[in-house]
Amino acid sequence: MYFETKLRSVVKAVSWRFWATLTTIVLVFAFTRQIAVAATVGFVEVFAKMALYFFHERAWNKINLGRRHLEPFVLWFTGLSGSGKSTLAEMIYRDLKKQGYRVEQLDGDVIRSIFPNTGFSREDRNNHIKRVGFLASILEKNGVMVVASFVSPYKQDRDFVRKQCKNFIEVYVNASLEVCQKRDPKGLYAQVKEGKIKNFTGIDDPYEVPDNPELTLFTDTQSIEESFLQIKKQIASFINNKK
Ligand code: ADX
Repeated sequence: MYFETKLRSVVKAVSWRFWATLTTIVLVFAFTRQIAVAATVGFVEVFAKMALYFFHERAWNKINLGRRHLEPFVLWFTGLSGSGKSTLAEMIYRDLKKQGYRVEQLDGDVIRSIFPNTGFSREDRNNHIKRVGFLASILEKNGVMVVASFVSPYKQDRDFVRKQCKNFIEVYVNASLEVCQKRDPKGLYAQVKEGKIKNFTGIDDPYEVPDNPELTLFTDTQSIEESFLQIKKQIASFINNKK
């Protein structure tokens, strides 16, 4: 990230005025063949255009034409392991990035690989979701869109994050346990069956279905592209409503 220092702005202003005024002098000279006239026009122009620029800027500050107000949001995917949260979050993240938005992605598996001591007891999950939710809200406050994907099985934790954020869009990725078990992309359900993993969401730990999510996706009956388009629609309507 580069930060434009005042010195750079001043040097750019001087360089711009130099070339612009030189052009004026050359043009006036080309038409009149009088160097004194050309130099005088150039001299007057420096001051006239500086004043004009100032008032032009001030006037445009009051005009909203062509300006798009963009409200950041936290798009929060919740659902069982294997429901398709991470896949959809990744697709939406890439899509928003491609459109030039400032966006960050937070994913349960990625965060947990960085902080491997985070377990799956109720207390561990409470703390984990509060931590990442707080982080998401800080990013949002700083104008960054957030795409977050966490099992986040407890209502209380999701409500905590909702309260922290200004624009919380909860996306419930609804796929039945049977379908998630069949997909088992990481082989975790198989390990649960063998008794190797305890407190697994949907099996021996509860998943509390969201009461009022902004969007519900039925990924066991609709294709990933259909779900993707539904999320895009939701984002577009959010952005349009906040204009
Ligand atoms: S959360 O419950 O604390 O929100 P998080 O989304 O960070 O979970 O991580 C869930 C991922 O960890 C799942 O996608 C799965 O790959 C893995 N995982 C390992 N053990 C468990 C478990 N007991 N319950 C749920 N997910 C588990």
